[in-house]
Amino acid sequence: MTSLKSQIKNEQKIIAIYGLGNVGGPIAAAWLRKGAKVIGVDISKNLLSEIQKGSSHKKEPYISETFSNALREKKLILTSDGVKASTISDIKFVAVPVGLRKNKIDLTALLSATTSISKGLQKGNTVIICPSLPPGTTEKVVRQILEKNSNLKVEKDFYLIYNPERIFEGRSLADIEENYPAIISGYGPKSLEFADELLKIISKKGTLKMSSIANAEAEKLFEGVYRDVNIALANELADYCERVGVNYWDARKGANSQPFCHLHYPGTGVGGLCIPVYPRFVIKSSSKIGKHVKLIEYSRKINDYMPKKCVHDALSLLKNNVKGAKVAVLGLGFRGEVTDSRLSPTYDVVDELLKKGCNVIVHDPYIFEDKDLPNNVKLTKDLSEAVKNAHLVFISADHKIYAKLNENILKKTKKPTMIFDGRNILNKKNFRNTSLLTIGTRK
Ligand SMILES: NC(=O)c1ccc[n+]([C@@H]2O[C@H](COP(=O)([O-])OP(=O)(O)OC[C@H]3O[C@@H](n4cnc5c(N)ncnc54)[C@H](O)[C@@H]3O)[C@@H](O)[C@H]2O)c1
Repeated sequence: MTSLKSQIKNEQKIIAIYGLGNVGGPIAAAWLRKGAKVIGVDISKNLLSEIQKGSSHKKEPYISETFSNALREKKLILTSDGVKASTISDIKFVAVPVGLRKNKIDLTALLSATTSISKGLQKGNTVIICPSLPPGTTEKVVRQILEKNSNLKVEKDFYLIYNPERIFEGRSLADIEENYPAIISGYGPKSLEFADELLKIISKKGTLKMSSIANAEAEKLFEGVYRDVNIALANELADYCERVGVNYWDARKGANSQPFCHLHYPGTGVGGLCIPVYPRFVIKSSSKIGKHVKLIEYSRKINDYMPKKCVHDALSLLKNNVKGAKVAVLGLGFRGEVTDSRLSPTYDVVDELLKKGCNVIVHDPYIFEDKDLPNNVKLTKDLSEAVKNAHLVFISADHKIYAKLNENILKKTKKPTMIFDGRNILNKKNFRNTSLLTIGTRK
């Protein structure tokens, strides 16, 4: 019998990917690079047209080029018709967003994508769910939709797999293809066996089998919780250092030379669709059974408070001249080197500065348009425009270009130049005549 790998390469098995964003885009590219025929499904006409033009996924190596070549060779078909894509595909990956809306877990996109799939689902098909989810969602919610609308039975008629994506934006394709084993779980042994054969095709490090789908869902959340709690610890220790006059960065370097210590970076806050969201999934799912996960809840509070704390510390540089001061906030991305500003702590930094009566301008080298900043706040890619006549420069995201800043580049600020470095990215040697306050150091 021909191997699954050959069947995919020979287009005997067609792959559909629902959601072509930060996660689905790299998954689609990974399969195209293995010779698969891919149907890319996305409800965003704008994204589909960017993929057509070769201008999507700008900060991710190889993805746009892979799409352009595949479109030319008719290996990639783009559509927003999820039902049709389901009827003509055999293997369906779901990579749509699951986040929080008004502090409630928002499954709208997942429900909509799986409903479309269920309407075209056929015997012998496979459905692979990739977004991070509260444990139990795939087995209870997704399975029910798939079975009910298709009149098919999971494991007997189709396979159901949960395969959480583990990617770091900026190196997503390498993470899928090379850096980690694929975490796999199946509704039953047949689904799991199929997952193993399938995911080994694109994952050089192979697969890591979980004994249940809920375990795999929990695994993914724990990766984010670990980061969030440890960032909160770093933020708390940095605050302690500021108060007692210790340099956190120096102490951290020493402490981390011991192999069991992995102190993280403190910063202006935790953003993005993953790290601040997954702990909330755990908090919510625990509260449903009447339990508190106190350490996780407290860590969230510490991290949520960071933009406010950093603004307070930064404005102390201006003494009594806060009202009407121009503040240049550098970095809208939720962290350095990303083009993604979703849940970025910079929004809270800006709100807090406005509340204190400052005039704010935001600079980002990668994000040129934004709908979420208040109307009276300009976003610019021109650094000299941002810092011109600024009373204070506030570094919010650690984009690499900020590491190159020096007194000459910032010469047009009001004098003396005042800087709050919320990410410890500046080279201190470049700022001998500047009032520079760095997070984690004596105020
Ligand atoms: N961004 C990351 O680094 C990352 C890492 C690991 C896991 N995840 C998980 O992956 C999920 C997706 O994240 P993302 O960053 O790719 O989101 P994204 O917003 O970049 O992309 C999601 C895409 O899905 C599309 N979409 C929404 N509803 C759809 C539907 N019904 N049918 C087809 N397409 C639909 C959207 O238009 C969008 O293009 C997250 O919720 C998270 O759980 C994200």
